[in-house]
Amino acid sequence: MAPLLLLFLLITSFTVFASPPLPPTNPPSTPLLATHSPLQPPRHHHHPPASAPVHSPAPLATPPTHYIHPLTPSKLVKTPTPTSTIENYIPRTLIAVQGVVYVKACEFAGNDTLWLATPLLGAIVKLGCNNTKYTLVETANTDEHGYFLIEGPKFVTNYGAHKCNVVLVSAPNGLKPSNFSGGITGAPLRPEKKPYGPFTLYSVAPLAFEPDCQR
Ligand SMILES: *[C@@H]1O[C@H](CO)[C@@H](O)[C@H](O)[C@H]1NC(C)=O
Ligand SMILES: *[C@@H]1O[C@H](CO)[C@@H](O)[C@H](O)[C@H]1NC(C)=O
Ligand SMILES: *[C@@H]1O[C@H](CO)[C@@H](O)[C@H](O)[C@H]1NC(C)=O
Repeated sequence: MAPLLLLFLLITSFTVFASPPLPPTNPPSTPLLATHSPLQPPRHHHHPPASAPVHSPAPLATPPTHYIHPLTPSKLVKTPTPTSTIENYIPRTLIAVQGVVYVKACEFAGNDTLWLATPLLGAIVKLGCNNTKYTLVETANTDEHGYFLIEGPKFVTNYGAHKCNVVLVSAPNGLKPSNFSGGITGAPLRPEKKPYGPFTLYSVAPLAFEPDCQR
């Protein structure tokens, strides 16, 4: 019985400190603690220790503005904020990269526009990623819609996607790449909101080859 009694005393002494916040009508609570505490604790004394958890939310509901704020404002705010800790909970996934390749219209050959451009079938694009040690490369061909989708090198995760870019490699009939969107110097990857299966999906801006208008 002695341990139980001790426990009971501990809990009641705790409620003495926990209960004062109850008077919501008195915002300057701290100075009033001493005068009000004798009134409040008796209510809690009636409850056995088991009911303590039921009551703990109640004091929290009213007084947090007075009690939690002065004690732990900065700590409570600061601990969740570091993005690094949040990012650590975002799982690494492999990346996939999509885009569309066009051939410019003859009227706009050499001009920095996709106006009247048409999708290009059979173009080859290259995804390159500078890992810490290796340059990882994957290539893909465009379909009849000019669309390509590359499942990235298996050592590149969404964390390393910023070290990747897409360049134009070749196209049928010896068409020459244009630097539209960085098709020559390297088009950056932009994250998409939707994933592609288990991959984190990225897009590159539309790329283009120069037309062959000799005929
Ligand atoms: C192509 O670009 C040049 C230089 O910017 C411009 O003078 C010309 O009008 C453009 N051609 C067309 C068809 O827009
Ligand atoms: C990788 O690094 C090399 C040398 O710094 C650079 O020329 C190349 O463009 C980089 N590739 C990518 C995909 O960032
Ligand atoms: C190629 O295009 C990219 C993206 O538009 C641009 O930043 C870069 O300066 C261009 N490079 C050349 C050599 O035109």
